[in-house]
Order: sequence, then structure tokens, then C-alpha cells
Amino acid sequence: MSTVNVVGLGYIGLPTALMFATHGVSVVGTDYNRDLVDKLSAGELTFEEKGLDELFRAALDAGIEFRCDYIETDTYIVAVPTPYDKDSKRIDPTYVISAVKSVLEVCPDGATVVLESTVSPGTMDRYVRPLCEGIGKTVHLVHAPERIIPGNMVYELEHNARTIGADCPEIGEAVKALYASFCQGEIVVTDIRTAEMTKVVENTFRDINIAFANELTKICRQADMNVYEIIRIANKHPRVNILSPGPGVGGHCISVDPWFLVGDYPGLANLIWQARKINDSMPEFVLGRIHDIMREHGIRDVSRVGLYGLTYKENVDDVRESPTLQMLECMERHLAGGVKVYDPWVCRDIVENQYHDLDKFLADVDIVVLLVGHSEIRENMDKLSGKIVLDTRNVCDLPGTYRL
Ligand SMILES: NC(=O)c1ccc[n+]([C@@H]2O[C@H](COP(=O)([O-])OP(=O)(O)OC[C@H]3O[C@@H](n4cnc5c(N)ncnc54)[C@H](O)[C@@H]3O)[C@@H](O)[C@H]2O)c1
Repeated sequence: MSTVNVVGLGYIGLPTALMFATHGVSVVGTDYNRDLVDKLSAGELTFEEKGLDELFRAALDAGIEFRCDYIETDTYIVAVPTPYDKDSKRIDPTYVISAVKSVLEVCPDGATVVLESTVSPGTMDRYVRPLCEGIGKTVHLVHAPERIIPGNMVYELEHNARTIGADCPEIGEAVKALYASFCQGEIVVTDIRTAEMTKVVENTFRDINIAFANELTKICRQADMNVYEIIRIANKHPRVNILSPGPGVGGHCISVDPWFLVGDYPGLANLIWQARKINDSMPEFVLGRIHDIMREHGIRDVSRVGLYGLTYKENVDDVRESPTLQMLECMERHLAGGVKVYDPWVCRDIVENQYHDLDKFLADVDIVVLLVGHSEIRENMDKLSGKIVLDTRNVCDLPGTYRL
């Protein structure tokens, strides 16, 4: 089998490249970020993830290479960012277009270009296919969206089911065989538009379900009822599965992908739009809870408030679209500054008054707002005794804990 060129070595591209490399596939990883390529080439990982270090070492032993240029080969896997345009809510295809253009410059006739990035349904036809026309060579386009969850990526790469969208069954089956080198889950082959829509639908379903839980939270707050107990009991119904409420929805997937449908189908994607609005309103709702608790305890100085957690979910270092960052933005508008922040997973300083030591952070605050349920705090709940705790993740069972 010829070498696979994985383009984009971020949260998705890197583990995927490593997985191929450790399962008998020759791999060159390409990223236009020189620092990132230098780090990887020097044997340094660029983000933390359970099991990634061992996988990285094994891939280096297997001969994986990292570089900034694109190589001439038969198969490319593209995993570059796909943000949405904040005004139109439609996909911003800039990264995809630019990466595919670079690949097309070097690829041979008959090459296969697999797009792993999540895209709005129709992106391949609208933005990628036209790039392949009139270039004097045939290129097979495939969409193979990724489903893995940060925090459990290595396990899920091997065990999740996958979808492969291709123009013809032969190409779909060939790409399926490539992924089957490491993927033990079912691999469904379909057409490209179905694969595009399916991936966006999966994340939209989760966003709507979380929005329902968040709306219930607001209703239960007004009704003075325990939303967690209600969801726990309701989920005993064999056909009910309500997800957990929280301080908002972050990350590069669930808080982004539903917008693609809102942007492309205005007037039709009404439920999806409402769900986005409800989830985006949660950081402000938490802020209201903090205000109430400060008032109840006669605390006026916001610098006595500490926010635990900066990442968008537990046990990862990814802060993209994080509810805590959204809340800090809100706070700047509504409260005087000075709030303190700590996250064991975020080593670099990204906000003001950021701490890097749990004990020092706790010593300097009276109110602790749990915004992320990292294992660190779950294992150190006793350190919160004596503090006023607002728990937005339902992880703290100390008496007197305030909830959403
Ligand atoms: N992060 C997740 O949990 C997750 C899960 C499933 C799907 N996805 C999807 O996967 C895609 C990639 O997301 P990510 O989280 O890995 O992004 P990322 O920002 O972590 O990584 C993208 C990488 O691509 C590189 N890049 C961008 N343009 C390039 C180009 N033209 N040539 C070479 N390198 C280029 C960047 O330098 C970066 O290192 C997105 O579409 C995302 O929606 C992400």
C-alpha cells in the first residue's frame, strides 16, 4: 500500500495519522504550522489525551514523518478546521478549500482525497468538486467524518462505527478497507451528501437534547425543583434519555455544526436554532446564579469568586468555545473584573487572574463555581469544604452545594 498523507495534525488529524501508522500503513503527516511540525518531529506531543503518548511513541517507531509540505501519493486525508461564519451562520470553507488546493497541486492522476473535517451538507459539491475540474487529472473525492470524543479518542478511533461517503462503491470500499486497518467498528459506505448530513445531524441531535436539559433546568430553578433528580428518574423510562444540563456547550463540534443547518435552511431549522440560543444563554444564566449567591451571602467583591475549569469539557486541554470563556466575556460586561480562574489542564496563561495551583486558588476565594468536572476536583472534593460551592456539573455532593 502506498503512503497516506494526512493533512492537518490537530485534535483529529494527529491521532488518526498515528493510528494508521501503528497499523501497518506508511504515513506522512502534513501541517502548515511549522512550530507544530518541529515539535512532533522532535518527539514532543502537541496536546494531552489519554493513551496518545504511547500511540505517538509506537508511530514514531513505525516510521511516521511530519512535514510542512504535501507529498505526491495516492491517498490524502484532510482534517482541517471548519468554523462557521458568525453572521451568515453558514460554513466557512476557507481552510478546506486551501488544503484541497495544496493537495491538488501535487497529487497524481487517480488520487483519492478523503475529507474528514465536518462540513455542511453540500460542501463537497459546492466548494471542493469545482476545484477538481479542468486540472487535467481525475481525483476521487470521499467524505469520512470523524466521531471521536476528546478524552477517549484513542479507544473510540478503534471501536466507533464510521461512515464513508463516496461517488462510487468501489472507491468507498477501498477507503473502507483502509480505515479497517485500525477500526473495528462497523463501517457504512454511502454517498457523500448523506455522509455530510449524517455527521451534522448527529451533533445537532446532541445539541438539541442538551438544550432540552438546560431549558428544564431553568424551569426547575423557577419551580424550586431538583432537575437532576427529575432527569435521573425520567431516564429510567426505557425510551427516554435526557442528557445532562450544564453551563453551556463548547468545543469545536456541538457548538458549531448545528449552525450549518441554521445558516443553510433559514425558516426550516427553527428547533435547531432555538436549541443553539438556549445553550448559548447558559453562561449568562450561571452568572445570574452567582449574583444571587453573592447577594444571599452578602459578598460584594467579585474577586472572592473563583471559577474552576476553563476547558469546554472534563479532562481535556481544549478551550475552544468554552462556556467559562463565554462567561468571562459576559462578566466583563456585567460585573467589575477580578474574578479568579483555575484549570489544571491549562498550563499557559490565557485569562486574567489565572491560577496554576489548586490550593492557592482555593485559599484566595470564598465562592467556587465548578464549571468543569475534571477528575482532579472529583478526587479532591474535601478541599471544597468550608467554601460556598455552585456546582454546574453535578459532581459535588458536599452539603449546602448550590446547583444550576
Ligand atoms: N476536535 C474534535 O473533537 C472533533 C471531533 C470530530 C470532528 N472534528 C472535526 O475535525 C476537523 C478538524 O478539527 P480539529 O479539532 O482537529 O482542528 P484543529 O484546529 O485541532 O487542527 C487542524 C489543523 O489543521 C492545520 N491546517 C489548517 N489548514 C491547513 C492547510 N491548508 N494545510 C495544512 N494544515 C492545515 C492547522 O494548523 C491545525 O493544526 C473539524 O472539521 C472538526 O469539526 C473535530
